[in-house]
Amino acid sequence: MIPIKTPEEIEKMRLSCRIAAEVLEKMVNFTRAGISTQDLDDFGRDLIKEAGATSTTFGYGPGKKIKYPAYSCISLNDELVHGIPSKDVILKDGDVLSIDLALSYGGFVGDNTRIVRIGNVDPEAERLSRIAEEALMIGIAKALADNRVGDISHAIEMHARENNFSVVREFVGHGVGKDMHEEPQIPNFGRPHTGPTLKAGMTLAIEPMFTQGSPAVYVCGDEWTVKTRDGLLAAHCEHTILVTNSSPEILTLVKK
Ligand code: MF3
Ligand code: CO
Repeated sequence: MIPIKTPEEIEKMRLSCRIAAEVLEKMVNFTRAGISTQDLDDFGRDLIKEAGATSTTFGYGPGKKIKYPAYSCISLNDELVHGIPSKDVILKDGDVLSIDLALSYGGFVGDNTRIVRIGNVDPEAERLSRIAEEALMIGIAKALADNRVGDISHAIEMHARENNFSVVREFVGHGVGKDMHEEPQIPNFGRPHTGPTLKAGMTLAIEPMFTQGSPAVYVCGDEWTVKTRDGLLAAHCEHTILVTNSSPEILTLVKK
């Protein structure tokens, strides 16, 4: 069953997502060469607390021995998702990283991920990250009532393929609401007119995950960090959106 949020629940999603987006925006602006990814996570942890929200990632890990130990996932270069912040990882010129921030406020989860480029970035790294960001918006544009999940998936996949990048298959987007992960799964690959039908009131986390070379990835010994097998670059970005009877509403956009 895919939850359809009531108008009251939608208001709560708007609020939790706005807070998640504002925290993430501040983390993005704080990101610079010379700080550690732990510094960045500490900064995010304090912002989550100040907002009166709670981290959805800290302590997460149903069925896993090692619970996720941080307030954000920070994945650098050949890391795709779930990078664990560390005081030993110092950001430097040319790094491309994704910051994934999920929090809960008022009983609802906001989930979002942004890509940050530090200084002079390799042109292919720049291109990969831009294509992932474009694919996110292209996928969101398909999140229309009476479309199906496969319409989103296919649009995202095609944008990767047209640009000679690969789509990771092991990790996917998801419904989001009272729980961080709800139905449906939203793969970044698939066929149009397949999968569950979208309805107004569904809230979805859409999150393209692309690689520069082979799509093969593996989970590191820390049980979380996901890297490309070939050591080439990976990219990931994410918004939480609301399906409406007209255009999708991006709940994790920071309103200026
Ligand atoms: N927020 C991410 C997602 O889209 C990842 C959370 S995994 C965690 O599902 F372990 F860090 F919590
Ligand atoms: Co997500």
